[in-house]
Amino acid sequence: MEREIKVPNIGDFHDVEVIDIAVKPGDEVQLESPLISIESDKASMEIPSPAAGVVRKLLVKVGDKVNEGTPIVMLEEKAGTAKAPAAAKASEPAREPTKVKSQEPPPYAAAPAPQLEAGQRPAPVTPTSTQTVGSSMSARAYASPSVRKFSRELGVDLGLVRGSGRKGRILQEDVKAFTKAVMSDNRVFGKGSGAGLPEIPPVDFSKFGPVESKPLSRLKRLGAQSLHRSWINIPHVTQFDEADITELEAFRKSKLEEASTQGLKLTLLTFLIKAAVVALRKFPEFNASLAPDGESMVYKNYFHIGFAVNTDQGLVVPVIRDADQKGLFELARELTELAEKAREKKIKPPEIQGGCFTISSLGHVGGTGFTPIINAPEVAILGVSRSVMKPVYLNGKFEPRLILPFALSYDHRVIDGVDGAEFTRYLSTILTDIRHILL
Ligand code: COA
Repeated sequence: MEREIKVPNIGDFHDVEVIDIAVKPGDEVQLESPLISIESDKASMEIPSPAAGVVRKLLVKVGDKVNEGTPIVMLEEKAGTAKAPAAAKASEPAREPTKVKSQEPPPYAAAPAPQLEAGQRPAPVTPTSTQTVGSSMSARAYASPSVRKFSRELGVDLGLVRGSGRKGRILQEDVKAFTKAVMSDNRVFGKGSGAGLPEIPPVDFSKFGPVESKPLSRLKRLGAQSLHRSWINIPHVTQFDEADITELEAFRKSKLEEASTQGLKLTLLTFLIKAAVVALRKFPEFNASLAPDGESMVYKNYFHIGFAVNTDQGLVVPVIRDADQKGLFELARELTELAEKAREKKIKPPEIQGGCFTISSLGHVGGTGFTPIINAPEVAILGVSRSVMKPVYLNGKFEPRLILPFALSYDHRVIDGVDGAEFTRYLSTILTDIRHILL
């Protein structure tokens, strides 16, 4: 008997998005087998099959918005397997869907999810020799209960699997691809084996004095994953340099009043974004990403610049899109708006995706230099420290000049040392004489 399976009672949720479809026409399903996953801004849920049978037709697709009662699947039901009467009235409460722990979209942190065209799937991640199966980050992975169950059955640590679903969600096929890659790899993956990282042994600190344990924020945990991933996968080199920003600062100050009449704060970061675009134009290999197979480079013909914002939950990297097409005031406005949104936890996934190059400014805090970690899949990041007045020997005498120290970390697999130094030298030239921005 063919039966239209509908979305059951999903509480107060309305227009909830279909994020995953677990079945296709012809699939045999058991009672309680997951049919689709839906996600609101608060939680994700799986809709299980209310009977055993064969899926005859899908009535929804990924991205559709559904409500209680929306038909999702035509099922040829196996007689006598339905849990609830097939002719249940719409007014009768349907079986509750499986609720999953609240999950917000991932990477709000330093490294955004891979940027993909609609419908495009990234190549499955092949495990690298530095991954250690069992060092579990599974609990933090973004996956539905059925995928979690599936990965448990196979003994796969979801923390090592890259999700190809929407917002980086891990799908069953990602787990399969990962497993296949591990099985076909000659290397041995296991705790402390092969080229795996040696583990830091756990310490019972309470043996040495009173301690208190506090959970990390979700943002910090996601950020930790991204930073660790970059750190262990990318051979970083950091090139230090400085720029004489005396003239730039004078110009910036001369424009402060005009900016403030428009409600804007024209900070140094605005100029840094502009200067970075000019340097990226001159050195396209810095505005690129290494292809996942490591065989080619993807050069970007757009200039989306990320900037690190410190929030009480952790680091967020909003992205200013098409920074090359925006004037200083427009950049200043966007920068302030995005930083505010980040701090108020209102930033949306598209606003942290698509970055080509990141700037991390600690200038307002102080310090003379630091080595920023690359925001993969980008290939370079600029770390800016506090500018200070220094005596500089110019035209036969010492003159007080405002000197800005900065550092560029770059991916040495794709950028040579000479290019790194030339990039920072050029950036210094632009910042010293901002007329270069016009060139
Ligand atoms: N040297 C000297 N002073 C600097 C400076 C620099 N390099 N950069 C900023 N300042 C000054 C500004 O001029 C401003 O001074 P003012 O209030 O007298 O005008 C003050 O520091 C505060 O600047 P701020 O408002 O923070 O603006 P910004 O545009 O420089 O930075 C953010 C905006 C969002 C990037 C910044 O607030 C932030 O969150 N930075 C943290 C980044 C981070 O955590 N990085 C670490 C990643 S590993």
